[in-house]
Amino acid sequence: MKIVSNPTRRSVLKGATALGASLFVPAAWTQARAQETKAFQLTPKPATVSLLGPEWPDTDVWAYNGRVTGPELRLQQGQRLRVDVKNGLNQPTTVHWHGLRLPNAMDGVPELTQAPIDPGDSFSYEFDALDAGTFWYHPHVNSSEQVGRGLYGALIVEDKEPPHVDRELTWVIDDWRLTRDAAIADNFGNGMDISHGGRQGNTLTVNGGQMDEVAVRSGERIRLRLINVANARIFRLNFNGHDPQVIAIDGQPVTPHAPTDGRIILGPGMRADVIIDFGGDPGETFNIVDAVSSAQSYVFATIRYSAEPPLRTSPLDASIRLAPNDVATPDLLTAERHQVVIEGGAMGGMRSAIYKGETLSISELAQQQMKVWALNGVAAHTTKMEPMLTLKQGRSHIITIRNDTGWPHPMHMHGYAFQILSRNNKAVPHTPLADTVLLDRNDVTEIALVADNLGDWMFHCHILDHVVGGMSAVIRVA
Ligand code: C2O
Ligand code: CU
Repeated sequence: MKIVSNPTRRSVLKGATALGASLFVPAAWTQARAQETKAFQLTPKPATVSLLGPEWPDTDVWAYNGRVTGPELRLQQGQRLRVDVKNGLNQPTTVHWHGLRLPNAMDGVPELTQAPIDPGDSFSYEFDALDAGTFWYHPHVNSSEQVGRGLYGALIVEDKEPPHVDRELTWVIDDWRLTRDAAIADNFGNGMDISHGGRQGNTLTVNGGQMDEVAVRSGERIRLRLINVANARIFRLNFNGHDPQVIAIDGQPVTPHAPTDGRIILGPGMRADVIIDFGGDPGETFNIVDAVSSAQSYVFATIRYSAEPPLRTSPLDASIRLAPNDVATPDLLTAERHQVVIEGGAMGGMRSAIYKGETLSISELAQQQMKVWALNGVAAHTTKMEPMLTLKQGRSHIITIRNDTGWPHPMHMHGYAFQILSRNNKAVPHTPLADTVLLDRNDVTEIALVADNLGDWMFHCHILDHVVGGMSAVIRVA
């Protein structure tokens, strides 16, 4: 499976697999509704939902509280979040709070930070929301399948002083691999997906439904929170005719700036907050394009301006800069240096790796349920591994990550917001804070952090089938 070439929305639907779906997709989507309290209940369980609208069969999914996307959990920065999770699936699960800096025991990684929650059992997560920003939650057991069947939701921590906007929207973006009957193709974790680019879907949803059109009013300013929850697809969104300003990456404020090449790049797990002044004329339309490359793009959605007169004639004159979160700044002069090398996969040239303590050849690894990826020479067989790196608590650290494979990898670290210092020996503008850094093939990047959060933390690719294939490790802060 690879990304389809020159897809339109509809050819994405039908072209990406041999399943032959020729799906016509009417516009029907709803925005996740905000909740008002700090205590929530989440019940992951089987459900039947309409992903494609009334003209298509419903889809059997696994969903939090019966809906895709799961409920949007909202609270204020500094508040405490309590979430009671009851497992309504027929297999163990956990909930991981992606991007949040929280105590290790609340991080939701089976074996490493908690026992998995068995079917019918419950677990309560409780922690303070230190950072304002756009985060999300998802299971960390059998993640490729559990996320791929619909278990995810947005977690929004509101700024104490949010920038003035007319509206705020959250777009939880997913792609699904559906059969012609709109059922989820159940070939999770197959060797092809594991060893190549992961499970690419053939059907896009935003907030669990179709979003062919986005209705806006001339003159309005919108804050858009973009969350990529897809198993493997990398989005490169181009808002033609508009000038989106990125104000946060992975929930962490950044100097407002236009995205490089005009494309907002979101690997799996990644988020961006953007502010857009909608300066088009009443009645105009513009396409948001997923610009995979210059040769390959498709219309993600169409912006349609209402006929109403403009809300205002010149853009709002109010700052769009967010207050930074209280993340310690690494001291680069005294930082300890570490390295992570990513190897393996199809066309990767890896000869061997250590698996369960033994050195195995690539063909032997392929026979071990396709453990064909390695971090620093080790293919993971479980979440509870001996640490790949140990970072001294309280010190600053720089980690160089090198992608020696033929595939892109969004590398995610739990429990931290790290600075992205450089990419291919060039300083990264605005030195963004992030929890996930996307490495194209053969990229080298440097990230830096202050090791101020104790514990054993997962470090893994967010292409979830690559995790199935061994691309995860533990970073210990002690
Ligand atoms: Cu969003 Cu360990 O993952
Ligand atoms: Cu990967």
